[in-house]
Amino acid sequence: MHPDCKEILLTEQQIRERVTEVAKQVDADLAGKFPVAVGILKGSIIFYADFIRCLTVPLELDFMAVSSYGSGTTSSGNLKIRKDLDGDVKGRDVIVIEDIIDSGFTLACLKKLLLERGAASVTIVTLLDKHERRTEDIAPDYNCFEIPDAFVVGYGLDYNERYRSLPYIGILKPSVYEK
Ligand code: IMP
Ligand code: MG
Repeated sequence: MHPDCKEILLTEQQIRERVTEVAKQVDADLAGKFPVAVGILKGSIIFYADFIRCLTVPLELDFMAVSSYGSGTTSSGNLKIRKDLDGDVKGRDVIVIEDIIDSGFTLACLKKLLLERGAASVTIVTLLDKHERRTEDIAPDYNCFEIPDAFVVGYGLDYNERYRSLPYIGILKPSVYEK
C-alpha cells in the first residue's frame, strides 16, 4: 500500500468484480441502442476503460472536462467546461461515466446541460457515491460502491493530481492534506 494511504477501501479484485456486474446491467438495459459514452476527465479514465470493455452495445466514445461551482439546480451556467465534447448529443442516448458523486453539483449541472443540448436520454453511472454529502437532488442511475465521507484516491481519483495510477482505492491519510 502507498505510504500516504491510511487503508485500502476497495481492492483491485473488488473493483473488477463490481464494475463488471454493473456494466452487465447497463449493457442489458441499453440493448438495441447506440449510446455515446461520455467520460468525465480526468478522474473517470480508468473506470471508463474498464467499464466500456464490459459493454457489448455499439458505442461512441467522447470526453468532457468540467468543474462546477454554485448550485446545479439554479443554472447550467455554473458548470465550467474545460474541454467540451467532440460530437453532438442531440437525439442521442448519453451515458455519463464519472468517478465519484459527492455534493452532486457536477452531475446535476452536467445532466441539465446535456438535456438542454437535446440528448434523448442521460444515464449517469458512477464508481463511487458519498451519499451522506449530497446537497443536490440527483442520484446516479447506476453506482458501483457507496462509500463513507472520507477522501479517497486511486483508480483514477487524485489529490492534487497525484495517486491516480494506484490500482486500488485508498483512504488518504489526513496528514497529507492537512500539511
Ligand atoms: P461534486 O460536484 O461535489 O459531486 O463533486 C464531484 C467531484 O469532486 C468529483 O468528480 C471529484 O473530482 C471530486 N471529489 C469528491 N470527493 C473526492 C474524493 O474523495 N477523492 C477525489 N476526488 C473527489
Ligand atoms: Mg471528477
